[in-house]
Amino acid sequence: MNAKQIRQTYLEYFKKHNHEVVASSSLIPAEDPTLLFTNAGMNQFKDCFLGKEKRSYNRATSSQKCVRAGGKHNDLEQVGFTARHLTFFEMLGNFSFGDYFKKEAITFAWDLLTNGYKLPKEKLYATVYYKDDEAYDLWHTMIGLPKERISRLDEKDNFWAMGDTGPCGPCTEIYYDQGEEMGPHEKPGSDGDRFIEVWNLVFMQYNRSADGELIPLAQTGVDTGMGFERLACVMQGKKNVFHSDVFAQLRAELDAISGKTYDTAPSEIQAAYNVLCDHIRSSCLIMADGGSPANDGRGYVLRKIIRRAILFAQKLSSSDDTLVRLARHFIATDGDVFPELQVSEERILSVLAQEIERFSHNLVHGQNILARYIAQTKEASNTELTGAHAFKLYDTYGFPLELTKVIAHEQDLTVDEEGFTKHMAAQQEQSKKKKDSGDADEIAFPEDMVTKFVGYTDTICETKVLWEHTSDAGRWIITKESPFYV
Ligand code: SER
Repeated sequence: MNAKQIRQTYLEYFKKHNHEVVASSSLIPAEDPTLLFTNAGMNQFKDCFLGKEKRSYNRATSSQKCVRAGGKHNDLEQVGFTARHLTFFEMLGNFSFGDYFKKEAITFAWDLLTNGYKLPKEKLYATVYYKDDEAYDLWHTMIGLPKERISRLDEKDNFWAMGDTGPCGPCTEIYYDQGEEMGPHEKPGSDGDRFIEVWNLVFMQYNRSADGELIPLAQTGVDTGMGFERLACVMQGKKNVFHSDVFAQLRAELDAISGKTYDTAPSEIQAAYNVLCDHIRSSCLIMADGGSPANDGRGYVLRKIIRRAILFAQKLSSSDDTLVRLARHFIATDGDVFPELQVSEERILSVLAQEIERFSHNLVHGQNILARYIAQTKEASNTELTGAHAFKLYDTYGFPLELTKVIAHEQDLTVDEEGFTKHMAAQQEQSKKKKDSGDADEIAFPEDMVTKFVGYTDTICETKVLWEHTSDAGRWIITKESPFYV
């Protein structure tokens, strides 16, 4: 099956089982300051799990755009160097809000994987939360999975939470065995690439409050998430997500741009291809959903992704327009799956070009300085670059810490991240002092006021002004409802 058929098969399977097919929500989460980017299919249903919102359906399915490059779920540093990490991916999910629970969730998953997608049963393994005897028994007794293919793991692996607060619960994960030759001693849940986690079924049972307390939900729910690119990888008999047809067009375009051939290239060049294939998707799609590079918050995550891509683009071509060409190609080939790319094409390409122009000069200078720091470190027989050096590169040349780490790593050096953080905190403290001594217009925004987001259904709404404030700088209002993303 090709990628499009895989996505279609998933949505159709759950539609047939009475699930409402819901469109992906934006990568920029609406109304949720606890989240940098949409990181799971369940985000747009958070209030349905918490019982705060009722919809016309209590079963749903979606293919959700996700970014995991900052915050609680952050895969940025692994991307390019492992066979399975991505900053942008689609999550195929099915959800139950107070409707079915563990038994049906496991039955659906097994049926779709083995009968729908026809994955060989003997290659599938399950992990369950170590206290969850019910899930264990369902796998063993109802499905017939042998005991040696079920493991009990702790909170770290089998208890899923969206963030530090919010709906959460124990989960069961389904792994695909890519073959003994990839790691004879590996087990599902270990770090290697032999067992690839394809599907996570979360049994939503609690709301975690800000002080960490687990408050039982009034109704239980199911939230599942299957990595679309990982599924395509195993369905197509590949050992690496970047080798599936999801990335084929981008790889071919990079072959054309660089004059190299991915399939025969050495591993560090293949890693550069992988990084670019991933980062072009995440950065274009974040921008298509309204994100812009900035020095803080989600804008800084976007900037880090683009800067990391600029660094790796250098390894493939000396031309400055590699990323813009790749972005144009991505928009042309994937615009049918993500129509928002075409709507924002002009903006995406121009913001990308500006970022490249802004950073390229500093990249060259910063790399020269870093080469000097690396030489000094080695001369002193140290294996760690100091926090002061890493901070200097960040502060003066705009090198995100991740970039310094990539370059240091290539020279077998680590970076003193704690030292970097201390320098950063000291600088922030200093600029706060400066700000406090100035005459900033402090506005006392009411903290308990909430604006309801109605943009999933309306783009225009009539509403009430709950609060207003006028200052020399302008006029501020808080409305009861709003169709605008935060
Ligand atoms: N929310 C869970 C996850 O992201 C399952 O969808 O893994």
